[in-house]
Amino acid sequence: MRYQTILDTVRAEVSPLVGCGRVADYIPALATVDPSRFGMALATADGTVYGVGDWQTSLSIQSISKVFSLAMALSGDDEEIWRRVGREPSGSPFNALQQLENDRGVPRNPFVNAGALVVVDHVLALTGDPTGAVLDLLRTEADNPAIDVDRQLAKSEAGNRHRNAALAHLLADYGALTHPVDVVLDQYTDLCAIAMSCRDLARAAGFLARHGLRADGSRLLSRSTAKRLNATMLTCGTYDSAGEFAYRVGLPAKSGVGGGILAVVPNRCTVAVWSPGLDESGNSCAGRAALDAFTTLTGWSVF
Ligand code: DON
Repeated sequence: MRYQTILDTVRAEVSPLVGCGRVADYIPALATVDPSRFGMALATADGTVYGVGDWQTSLSIQSISKVFSLAMALSGDDEEIWRRVGREPSGSPFNALQQLENDRGVPRNPFVNAGALVVVDHVLALTGDPTGAVLDLLRTEADNPAIDVDRQLAKSEAGNRHRNAALAHLLADYGALTHPVDVVLDQYTDLCAIAMSCRDLARAAGFLARHGLRADGSRLLSRSTAKRLNATMLTCGTYDSAGEFAYRVGLPAKSGVGGGILAVVPNRCTVAVWSPGLDESGNSCAGRAALDAFTTLTGWSVF
């Protein structure tokens, strides 16, 4: 089946579900997004992109940024980060404080907020500017220099980040941060507030489908590291419903509370889908249904 036909078929199948769930409202600027939006883009491993619906409209990538921060932390085949962050599914909400206390300051995985804060701290030491480094990567891979932080959204989140601040202070208390709490929080907030389209997201993540190779053929991650990053997305990328997501979709994926989900079909393509209504775990409701329909239609789950 042709890629465009696949996307058109998926869209037709999920269109009754668009608008299901609830738009995230704990960040005031996110609450204003139109819940009837739906976009989906597929980038083949050679970088050709196909799309449907609002696939060229900017969305707030939120926690999908955690994939790119982790890729920066792991680039150069640096395994150091795994001394500071675990690799187990959390089974708890992404911003749980209690789990971090129980785990004595070693976050369960790099995709819960505590884990992402430690990753940002690590990338601060590597690059001095995690947001700048991630933006460089995104702009180059997507071939779109306009990708940037949505300043209004970042400000809106910064004014409401009490729980993330609590996580960062708890980490600092355990000696798990090497930079000041506010510096780490500002970087984390800016990374979450990056705005880009499904088209750009699908293209920017192409290295995950190409076993670590960037669009120009240079290496970002070793083959083994790319495989492991995909494995971590599969087991930990969709909050406390990673099991259900693997059961329904069967692809490495990372979601964000802006309603985006990025999924990888290793060796073949990357898919980005966006619809702002979220299920109870914080995953896009129609987005997950679209990826479920996508793997059912194509048979391209990793299982
Ligand atoms: O930390 C937050 O609350 C958001 N900026 C990101 C949330 C999100 O997408 C889910 N986090 N894992």
